[in-house]
Amino acid sequence: MNIQKDFPILSHHPDLVFLDSTSSTQKPSYVIDGLKQYLENDYANIHRGSYDLAENSEKLYIDSKKKLAELIGADSWREIVYTMNSTYAANLLASSARRSNILKKWDIIVLSIVEHHANIVPWQILAEETGAILEYIWLSDDYKLNINELEEKLKNSHVKIVSLTHVSNVTGEIFPLEEVRKLIAPLSSKGEGQGVRFFIDASQSVPHFKIDVQKLWCDALFFTGHKLMADSGIGVLYGKKEFLECLDPWISWWWAISWVHTDTFKSAPIPDKFEPGTPNLSGAVSMLKALEYIEHIWWYETIESIEKELMEYALEGFVKRPELKLQWSKKPDTRVWVFSFSHDTIHALDIADSLADKNICIRAWQHCAEPFMIEHSLTGTCRMSLYIYNTKADIDIFFQALDEAIEKLSW
Ligand SMILES: Cc1ncc(COP(=O)(O)O)c(C=O)c1O
Repeated sequence: MNIQKDFPILSHHPDLVFLDSTSSTQKPSYVIDGLKQYLENDYANIHRGSYDLAENSEKLYIDSKKKLAELIGADSWREIVYTMNSTYAANLLASSARRSNILKKWDIIVLSIVEHHANIVPWQILAEETGAILEYIWLSDDYKLNINELEEKLKNSHVKIVSLTHVSNVTGEIFPLEEVRKLIAPLSSKGEGQGVRFFIDASQSVPHFKIDVQKLWCDALFFTGHKLMADSGIGVLYGKKEFLECLDPWISWWWAISWVHTDTFKSAPIPDKFEPGTPNLSGAVSMLKALEYIEHIWWYETIESIEKELMEYALEGFVKRPELKLQWSKKPDTRVWVFSFSHDTIHALDIADSLADKNICIRAWQHCAEPFMIEHSLTGTCRMSLYIYNTKADIDIFFQALDEAIEKLSW
């Protein structure tokens, strides 16, 4: 299967070696054409329009949620809330938790030390506003989640929220969330009751493998479209029906309400109560097209088989270079194709700049995971990441340029 031909950016830039998909993936023609088709033929505002265009547009909006619900195993498309991105989804979750009095003073929120800032800062703000306390789970030497530490923390009945990433955007490590779920399930909250709420940042798992919210058994989970070949500006907050229903939306106006009187209003049912104003209609269509594209290449089977082959190839290249410090576990079965590395004497940004001069795109710095960097005494790392349109030739070009950069920048 020649996947590369599906991505016009690769033919428009024949020398491009794009190794930064963990930040944002490139878009296949199927998504680009689908978006054009929508804007040229079906675009209109949704909700309450009785004319054909409005109805078609609304159908596409709901269809994209139905496809997402099918993809992640949600019970209904009504459990899917559209947001701008993961960061917005986590903020919506934390701010709505604040309005719903889910936390009180001295309650505990548990995170891991390798979370993206998007899954730290909203909880820091919530802790500041409520008097709750943030606690972190450390990683093992092999960058794995320390499950025993979580088990210990859960003995404290003040723990009310556990919010963890599914896959780290720095180490590429897949956290064993089904095991986490087993620890949390007996303590979990039913509807509005007290108990532990379990939230998942799935920003780096959904682009790589099929997830199932029934197996993960989380109260809420979020991810972002631009890492999944959809457009930027569309993100997803999944929530279990009973959880979303008891959550008071953080902001409310227009479509997010059922009725308004001069002195009060009533929120709309889920998911609309979390989507005030006109949503990102073309973003939703791009999400639908991205999921149809993944379906067209046999759902995740193709992604996973390309990933396995390229990951093993890249791993060999990294392991052969002892001058690099690798911030990941070398066991390929619990990781995705994200490779962070550093060099003792060369700054990560200098390496990335040197590669950029040769049209090789990687990312360097702290990857929005500063607590992890501080904990591991790192000023920053380079991160090279792959996706379905990459080839072994891209990896060869990368290593050759990396060797040249290290030779040039060493002193
Ligand atoms: C693990 C993780 N969480 C959250 C985010 C934030 O995503 P967005 O910028 O789309 O909000 C990212 C983006 O890199 C990420 O890797």
